Amino acid sequence: MIRILKNKTLLLGITGSIAAFKAAGLASQLTQAGAAVDVVMTREATQFVGPLTFESLTHRHVVTDVMALLPDSTIGHVAMAKRAHIFVIAPATAHTIAKIAHGLADDAVSATALDTRAPLVIAPAMETGMWENAVTQENVAKLVARGAVVVEPGIGRLASGASGKGRMADVDDIVDTIRAVLGRGGDLANRKIVVTAGGTQEPIDPVRVIANHSSGKMGFALAEGARDRGARVTLIAGVHSQRVPRGIELVEATSACEMRDAVLREIADADALIMAAAVADFRPAQQAEHKIKKGQAETIALELVRNPDILAKVAERRKKGNKVEDPAISPALAGGARVSGGNGRNLVVIGFAAETNDLLANARAKLEAKNLDLIVANPVPQSFGNDLDQATLIERGGAVTELPPMPKEELAEKILDFVNTLR
Ligand code: PMT
Repeated sequence: MIRILKNKTLLLGITGSIAAFKAAGLASQLTQAGAAVDVVMTREATQFVGPLTFESLTHRHVVTDVMALLPDSTIGHVAMAKRAHIFVIAPATAHTIAKIAHGLADDAVSATALDTRAPLVIAPAMETGMWENAVTQENVAKLVARGAVVVEPGIGRLASGASGKGRMADVDDIVDTIRAVLGRGGDLANRKIVVTAGGTQEPIDPVRVIANHSSGKMGFALAEGARDRGARVTLIAGVHSQRVPRGIELVEATSACEMRDAVLREIADADALIMAAAVADFRPAQQAEHKIKKGQAETIALELVRNPDILAKVAERRKKGNKVEDPAISPALAGGARVSGGNGRNLVVIGFAAETNDLLANARAKLEAKNLDLIVANPVPQSFGNDLDQATLIERGGAVTELPPMPKEELAEKILDFVNTLR
């Protein structure tokens, strides 16, 4: 279940493109995420995929004709237009885009578009020539000017067999866009939230690194959850294995020093920082210029030096009125940066503690030392790379909330609820 989709009625319009087969995956994903999905189709769309496919996936009536009635005798497309929280046309052909731009309503999809007041998302799919044609671009611009959100088509193999721009965007990208549009005006709207995710890598030589097992799942779940609640999200990502979501600004930071620079820069106008990244505490004192040869040696020693503690730097900045005193940080950062933006609110700072032993005691010590508002204590190795996590939340004032094992998306919501109470 995805919180923003749960109990929402999504209206999916399908038009006559070969990409109609991908709409089945979209309907299925949205239904499984907890949404009620109504489907309207043009006659041409039904030639690619039958309505029965969508009825089976959504367990709801599908409308393919402007004159069609629902079992309760209401006019199908009108009833669906009225109850929709969002209208998504995927795939949207050049013809349908043109009709909607000009207010034509001679099929179930265009008639629904004219009647509904729900936000409109369109995922165009067509041949490159049609997409690049000035008239299509003008029609798309018209819809955007009226508030529609376009999920740009990608480049790839088209129905003709040619390759070019016009291929419908990936289903995951369409789902991201739906979540972001539904989340507008949510309880974190007008907030900037900075999240770190993944693991850092510290180079030993040009081919070897010191790394850890973080997959980025926890940090990405936080970033997506914050986006779905209307926040402006900057995700500072180390090494990870996640798909980069839409509607989030991604900053790549591979080493601990790069991550520190990015965090100190990005919190200047932020309302909250959530450090879910697994940051290396040490790095090799020197990075060898060439690949280290094994030679005859049975052992070799690697000298390590301490990495900056990013959260400790943030705490320092909070204490010292935001002056950056670390000469390693680029000069552009020094001086002018503020901890919180001109909004006058304080920066909420949340850290994680990943421990193999004495979890709560170690977490409490980190909460104090790093001057955090909240620490999320999670056990190693269970927390790394898994879809589930079992965490204990410890607040600055001492309150402790022990949570049962749950998906990282759900844990992210609980952490974001906390951000909301402190804002
Ligand atoms: O990415 P996943 O596979 O989903 O796994 C999630 C996770 C286990 C990585 C995540 O839940 C987690 O616990 N992240 C923090 C891991 C960690 O490095 O914990 P720590 O106890 O070493 O560090 C304490 C806090 O200080 C963390 O918020 C960390 O980001 C921060 N830190 C650590 C070192 C450093 N040099 N600077 C820091 O700011």
